[in-house]
Amino acid sequence: MAGEWILMVTAQTPTNIAVIKYWGKRDESLILPVNDSISVTLDPEHLCTTTTVAVSPSFEQDRMWLNGKEISLSGGRFQSCLREIRARATDVENKEKGIKISKKDWEKLHVHISSFNNFPTAAGLASSAAGFACLVFSLAKLMNVKEDHSQLSAIARQGSGSACRSLYGGFVKWIMGKEENGSDSLAVQLADEKHWGELVIIIAVVSSRQKETSSTSGMRESVETSLLLQHRAKEVVPKRTVKMEEAIQNRDFASFAGLTCADSNQFHAVCLDTCPPIFYMNDTSHRIISCVEKWNRSEEAPQVAYTFDAGPNAVLIARNRKAASLLLQRLLYYFPPNADTDMNSYVLGDKSILKDAG
Ligand code: ADP
Ligand code: DP6
Ligand code: CO
Repeated sequence: MAGEWILMVTAQTPTNIAVIKYWGKRDESLILPVNDSISVTLDPEHLCTTTTVAVSPSFEQDRMWLNGKEISLSGGRFQSCLREIRARATDVENKEKGIKISKKDWEKLHVHISSFNNFPTAAGLASSAAGFACLVFSLAKLMNVKEDHSQLSAIARQGSGSACRSLYGGFVKWIMGKEENGSDSLAVQLADEKHWGELVIIIAVVSSRQKETSSTSGMRESVETSLLLQHRAKEVVPKRTVKMEEAIQNRDFASFAGLTCADSNQFHAVCLDTCPPIFYMNDTSHRIISCVEKWNRSEEAPQVAYTFDAGPNAVLIARNRKAASLLLQRLLYYFPPNADTDMNSYVLGDKSILKDAG
């Protein structure tokens, strides 16, 4: 392992948006949730994290840069991910560079990590999900970790809960698990990205500013003070996840949209039921909801589902390309970007939609 060398791995991971939300932990340090959750992983070319991890005998400590600025790795979450991956490192050989790293060497070697999000960080578009999934995945590649995606998801979970769902594409379920040590709290794929190819996702960026209450502290306050959260976790979500899985399996858009919107609204109701209340959505978010609800009600069947994470930005899921095209027309009419509507931009799940949609 001697000499001056550097070994690097770069990985890219998309973000995921929950259609059945995770909000509340039963164990803060292991990041174990109070309910199952289900998400859809976005197309990697639109909202994703790109992370490069490097190792060299000349590095004196572990260091990390996020969007070009150095950040501290001393937090428990980064330390958990690094520790769990290092514990599973295996021998690495790079003949081209004449590098041989044994399992034991990894205990002494330090890493440098550089990560960029191509979308707003900490603004309610799940940057922690793409970020920690990408960190764990790239470190696992660098250190030749042989665990499968589900095992890696349980490690990413310890960085940020929602991150465990970004290890898979398509529709993903985070099973809350029963074990106290968290060994069965991991993500599984429900359906791959081709299963429901008709859906088109449009993200309306209402504000790219960093939110005032992080997801971590918001959900902690909800667990401590909201009775609605207890009811939601015990009575509502278990039944809703079963129905959501059925809707996804059957590509039943009416059920999917009904459940997605109801779950987003209940999550924000829990935020309001928190003491002091947390406001993630703003006026523009509410106007988007009204616009979609009104349109859905004027049609025979719902055309679009909406969901909002811990922030004001709307994730809109259209039943097909035609509905997406009509949705975009409406949005551009009612919320032209950079006017006094507070709307910053739109990100399309399918770039060619305006050209081909019927
Ligand atoms: P979001 O809604 O964007 O997920 P959170 O409050 O859940 O917001 O998490 C934001 C935090 O996630 C950031 O302050 C940072 O600590 C972490 N994070 C964001 N992007 C990355 C990344 N690419 N790599 C590692 N950590 C990240
Ligand atoms: C509203 O995963 O960001 O996006 O586990 O504390 O890092 P930590 O929180 P985080 O919470 C996500 C909350 C949510 C819903 C979801 O993604 O399921
Ligand atoms: Co987050």
